[in-house]
Amino acid sequence: MSAAIPSLTFHDGHRIPQLGYGVYKIPEDDAADAVRTAIETGYRHIDTAALYRNEAGVGRGLRDSGIDRGDVFVTTKVWNDRQGRDETLRAFDESLERLGLDYVDLYLIHWPAPKQDLYVPTWHALEELRESGRARSIGVSNFKPHHLERLAAESDTVPVINQVELHPRLPQQEVRAYDADHGILTESWSPLARGRLLDDPVLGDIAAKHGVSPAQVVIRWHLQQGLVVIPKSVHAERIRSNFEVTGFELDADDLDRIAGLETGERTGSDPDEQG
Ligand SMILES: NC(=O)c1ccc[n+]([C@@H]2O[C@H](COP(=O)([O-])OP(=O)(O)OC[C@H]3O[C@@H](n4cnc5c(N)ncnc54)[C@H](OP(=O)(O)O)[C@@H]3O)[C@@H](O)[C@H]2O)c1
Repeated sequence: MSAAIPSLTFHDGHRIPQLGYGVYKIPEDDAADAVRTAIETGYRHIDTAALYRNEAGVGRGLRDSGIDRGDVFVTTKVWNDRQGRDETLRAFDESLERLGLDYVDLYLIHWPAPKQDLYVPTWHALEELRESGRARSIGVSNFKPHHLERLAAESDTVPVINQVELHPRLPQQEVRAYDADHGILTESWSPLARGRLLDDPVLGDIAAKHGVSPAQVVIRWHLQQGLVVIPKSVHAERIRSNFEVTGFELDADDLDRIAGLETGERTGSDPDEQG
């Protein structure tokens, strides 16, 4: 039995479990079972998005698990083609309907999609949703410091979190420094670099030293960096082992070696290009 996963506190006072379960690419029909397995394992934080087309399955999994609504943290996101104030408000209603929930814990702008130039009015819609209480907290995803600067100049609300691609190959020091200076938590998507990192011999060595798997080393690394982390797997055994990350500690030598894995390589898009 692992120790409890810590929670981090947003600047708005709400709390988020530091380790969550991501459901990108899990088909609608499999999402309910996957989410139920995650809840039974002990996860109390689920990360989905309208884009993933599995919000209804996520909602079913939550209900099947029997968990009290107040005991689980649910994030969803507005997709690029629904940006703009009115369209975002409609997209949010549709997400809640599919999830079968009357609020989400966190609603994110999925990408800044700067070519559309709609992320500021989209952010104003999220501010309204937070006012209404149907989104308890609001944040962004894939925002670079210059996008965050624009929000700061054109709104009164600082996002609580910025969810970005982040793993040892792409540690995102500049984004993390900006976020930290502005009271914004940083959350790592594709924290395992979509699994591409896991054959690395350095991680294999560190894993052997602690008697754990490379995936556990990487998830532990995110936790020790103070990041929120949302690994995805469809396999029950991996869903469970990815959660068993509190029984060991990476030491300074391990952290130095992991720092040496930085290549700057992205598995996803550059936020200035996407959308
Ligand atoms: N905001 C955004 O723009 C954005 C973009 C991408 C992702 N995300 C979020 O971040 C979450 C995680 O990112 P991700 O799904 O792209 O990638 P990831 O979590 O880095 O990696 C998932 C891949 O690693 C494999 N894997 C997981 N645990 C493993 C283990 N213990 N041993 C070996 N392989 C393992 C999975 O395979 P199996 O499933 O076959 O086990 C899958 O292929 C997503 O689900 C989503 O919630 C957000």
